[in-house]
Amino acid sequence: MLRRNRRLRTNESIRSLVRETLISPNDFILPLFVVEGKNVKEEIASMPGYFRFSLDLLKKEVKECWKLGLRSVLIFVKVDDKLKDNSGTEAINPNGLMQKAIKLVKDTTPEMIVMTDVALDPYSSFGHDGIVNDGKILNDDTTAVLAEMSLSHAKAGADFVAPSDMMDGRIFEIRSLLEDEGFHDTGIISYSAKYASAFYGPFRDALDSAPGFGDKKTYQMDPANREEAIRETLMDIEEGADIVMVKPGLCYLDIVRDIKNTVNVPIAVYQVSGEYAMIKAASEKGWLDHDAVMMEQLIAIKRAGANMIASYFAKDAVKLIS
Ligand code: PBG
Repeated sequence: MLRRNRRLRTNESIRSLVRETLISPNDFILPLFVVEGKNVKEEIASMPGYFRFSLDLLKKEVKECWKLGLRSVLIFVKVDDKLKDNSGTEAINPNGLMQKAIKLVKDTTPEMIVMTDVALDPYSSFGHDGIVNDGKILNDDTTAVLAEMSLSHAKAGADFVAPSDMMDGRIFEIRSLLEDEGFHDTGIISYSAKYASAFYGPFRDALDSAPGFGDKKTYQMDPANREEAIRETLMDIEEGADIVMVKPGLCYLDIVRDIKNTVNVPIAVYQVSGEYAMIKAASEKGWLDHDAVMMEQLIAIKRAGANMIASYFAKDAVKLIS
């Protein structure tokens, strides 16, 4: 035998010398859920250990995250039912919860990169990502509102807007308006290949944003499709996306690698709420080793080609590796 692969696995020192994939705190984007009120820190039932924060407690939370080494957050808001309608009115309110949250994070930790979810579902009386007419989700009317929404986030201080709606042409609409209004440095991290996944369930509990009728299959992608993900991603890049995203994570790592081999912009992967819930539930039962499974999945996501990972495990992982 001339070749023995086990030689490079003999001990941890040699294994770490030849390790191909590393995870560091800079790799993470931490999703944050924000609610109205004071002194609120509510655990999300289907996401054990994950919370919604009111603005006052959000301040403490982001300070702690910064200290842990996290450098990027992605903000989502839970909107009161009475503010929901079919046109996203509240989404562009300069004093809305999102806009206040952006300002608060930038005031508290100015160097923290603030990314914001751009989609109508938390604001929609129908729980859909766009404006509804006669049971259909209108594309072009929606992208106009998404552009206004992005502008309002940029004005509040967002570094990146993250359109998660999957309407056609929204990156072009958003980029054009940001340019026209002088927000040249506000970036777009686009959910380019976002699948119509059953793994978003816990997230919809967190924001009370489940669709009121039907599903999201006329705008989010069919899990059976691979080439379409490349087409979507290339179009978003042409339209001006700075970073592209694949979502969910684990079931879609083949897509991540395809895209990695095709494009030359940074790639983000969103390890979604259902992926978090599965690991939490199995480890609560004592069936899986929480930390080991968490790290294995995060490493797998990076190995597939992700440059960054949006993950509810960001804090847990960073504590473990630093
Ligand atoms: C909203 C949005 C969703 C997620 C991120 N942005 C839900 C959806 O599309 O229904 C899911 C995130 C997760 O499950 O962690 N457009």
